[in-house]
Amino acid sequence: MFVVPLIERKRDGGALTPEEWSALIAAYTAGRIADYQMSALLMAVVLRGLERAELAALTDAMLASGQRLSFDGWATPRVDKHSTGGVGDKVSLVLAPLVASCGVAVPMMSGRGLGHTGGTLDKLEAIPGFRTALSLGEAKAQLLKLGCILIGQTPEIAPADKKLYALRDVTGTVEAIPLIAASIMSKKLAEGLSALVLDVKHGSGAFLPATAQGLELARTMIALGEDRGCPTAALLTAMDRPLGRACGNALETEEAILALRGEGPEDLMEVTYALGVEMLLAAGVESSAAKAKKRLEDALGSGLAAEKFEQVIEAQGGNPKAVEDPSVLPQAQAVEVFAARETGVVTRVEPRTIGRAVVSLGGGRTTVEDVVDPTVGFVITVKPGDKVLAGEPIASVFARDASGVKLGFEALERAITIGDRLTERPLPLISHRVTKDGVEDLTRPPHAPKSRAARRA
Ligand code: URA
Repeated sequence: MFVVPLIERKRDGGALTPEEWSALIAAYTAGRIADYQMSALLMAVVLRGLERAELAALTDAMLASGQRLSFDGWATPRVDKHSTGGVGDKVSLVLAPLVASCGVAVPMMSGRGLGHTGGTLDKLEAIPGFRTALSLGEAKAQLLKLGCILIGQTPEIAPADKKLYALRDVTGTVEAIPLIAASIMSKKLAEGLSALVLDVKHGSGAFLPATAQGLELARTMIALGEDRGCPTAALLTAMDRPLGRACGNALETEEAILALRGEGPEDLMEVTYALGVEMLLAAGVESSAAKAKKRLEDALGSGLAAEKFEQVIEAQGGNPKAVEDPSVLPQAQAVEVFAARETGVVTRVEPRTIGRAVVSLGGGRTTVEDVVDPTVGFVITVKPGDKVLAGEPIASVFARDASGVKLGFEALERAITIGDRLTERPLPLISHRVTKDGVEDLTRPPHAPKSRAARRA
């Protein structure tokens, strides 16, 4: 296939035809287009965008590059959640077993760390022995048996996205609404879902920081889902600070386990419950948000959700003892406490700085071949608005050695700023609910006028 004219057309602001997208993606998946040419095309898409028909064709081509799960005759509803990516976002590890323990099957297919954000697969693989690479057949059998799988893209599912995702991660081509939407939806639509719930992050640590971009991404993915017969809804959640306290693979897995045992940080639990409510409503197993929340709380409180996680870990070859005793997770060699330099109010905990530092410590990738170190990262116990005293411990660095600790301290110095008072209001933790019917601003009373961002959406 002669790709150069297509790259040039996109570079100059033109559109490719659906047939061209289809042929391009098929040829790239088959290894007939070089990574450097695909990188150039991706960069042109980042700069020029995609027309609606191009996005539909790209998504369909990525979906068609592999197989789709099908569950003909199985009455259990299947609902998944997908996050657009954040720092400290371990929601999937809590949410999947929690929702599955409420009678909804969760075929959760996740990704690896991308750019400065962490990935669910890297967190799961911190559990000794845990296998995220199941075949499609294994995945289906486990879903029918346990109602939950926590896996990576099988080689059969959207292989085009798998290649493109890895390429985008190392070529500065992640941050584009059409590429993110096509990537996420091509995988999700292959799962044979009854419905899908999206957690769209906004704020400085999100791939798309502006609220208006988050809303546009949500609407774009919802349209792709709904047009292909998968009811899709989204919540916009804050990523102007890390979610929860732990950032780094094993540390986040430990925090997720604590959350399943009823000891999760407040913000993590609020986002988890809100997404869980959406999933139970979309599955049709509860008729109101209040009932759905109660069902989730009961499943967590009774230990059913933690038990489901144990079953999933065991089924996927991991050590289920991790749920009872998270100290079986790999531990960092060097741990140091970081204290507040001055007395005052925490004005920012910058997630991008923290996410990049986790990568620099070895907890993420800078090239496709990198192997992640599960042990490294941070636990940050303060949030914007908290009052602190000089010398008070506010974070810990988990590193391989003293030079890692130094790097971690420098990142914390930059990420956590302290002043006399809050100068910028943190984003509401959950700000908007988006469905095919429109945008609900959750921060306003029901009949108040819409915000500007919601009006634009
Ligand atoms: N998550 C995905 O699956 N794909 C993206 O492009 C970004 C986040």
